[in-house]
Amino acid sequence: MTKFGKLPHKDLLSIAQLSGDDVQQIFATAAELKAKRAELNDLLAGKKLAMIFEKDSLRTRFTFDIGMQDMGGHAVFLDHRDARIGSREAVRDVARNLERWVDCVVARTFKHRAVVELAENCSIPVINGLTDYLHPCQALSDFFTLTEKWGDVKGKRLTYIGDGNNTCHSLIYAAAKLGTNITVCTPEGYEPNAKVINQAMIAGQESGSELRIMNEPKEACEGTNAVYTDVWASMGQEDEVEERAGLFREYQVDEELMALTDNGLFMHCLPAHRGHEVTSGVMDGENSIVFDIAENRLHVQKAIMLLLMNGEGS
Ligand code: CP
Ligand code: NVA
Repeated sequence: MTKFGKLPHKDLLSIAQLSGDDVQQIFATAAELKAKRAELNDLLAGKKLAMIFEKDSLRTRFTFDIGMQDMGGHAVFLDHRDARIGSREAVRDVARNLERWVDCVVARTFKHRAVVELAENCSIPVINGLTDYLHPCQALSDFFTLTEKWGDVKGKRLTYIGDGNNTCHSLIYAAAKLGTNITVCTPEGYEPNAKVINQAMIAGQESGSELRIMNEPKEACEGTNAVYTDVWASMGQEDEVEERAGLFREYQVDEELMALTDNGLFMHCLPAHRGHEVTSGVMDGENSIVFDIAENRLHVQKAIMLLLMNGEGS
């Protein structure tokens, strides 16, 4: 095992399962892997990653694949966009096959239950590469990038504007673990999941993080340190695109909203729809850190893979 150690979990399915210390361990590892990218090139020599994706991807697919190559390992991609996992054979049987061939699995699925079932039925680590419910690797990369920008994220405020979706849920969990205050502002009826809110409230009491849920964008952006948005209709909600475009119009992150912040950073998980949830001016503005976040997906996911696979097997 390398000096990087190991996370005390088999899988990474949700930030809810991590402690604040686990998150800091991921961040410290990511920082070192980033600083010594060329040098630390054999940490996962000979290891194999299976990538099973039911949905499109640019960033997640590339960064997991390149991340394995960077550390001397290899990734195999299974395009599952034509059929859900479990349609040809039971998810638990897929899991039992995969564990015989590879050392780790990253899965992007519609149903969150599918990644949980994969994880429960194999002995190797399973990483959530996005489900309808959560996007943990994204939120960890978002907060890692904020630590690079701010030093400490504790006591700062992040405002999320838009749909209370998978990305939003994982940001709420990450903020609660790290002591960051978070304001979530959605149209009525599109608020985040109640279970996520309740769990984050409890975790937030320990870390000192405040969670506010509201429907008024200007109030939500007043004096905040960063504004985050995501697409109004996520993958799988294509038939709601038009309806949501009308309902979410007032929630576009534009120059006027950004002017209310405390020189706030602009964040987006990408892909972005310019002219919808964000204006091009904000997306390309000097406070936009969207491509820094995309860059850090690589380093943070390398850290996650290393800390899950470190010392496992041969
Ligand atoms: N942000 C993100 O997960 O991007 P992809 O959907 O392109 O992987
Ligand atoms: N909420 C978006 C995130 C894409 C990375 C979706 O699920 O489509």
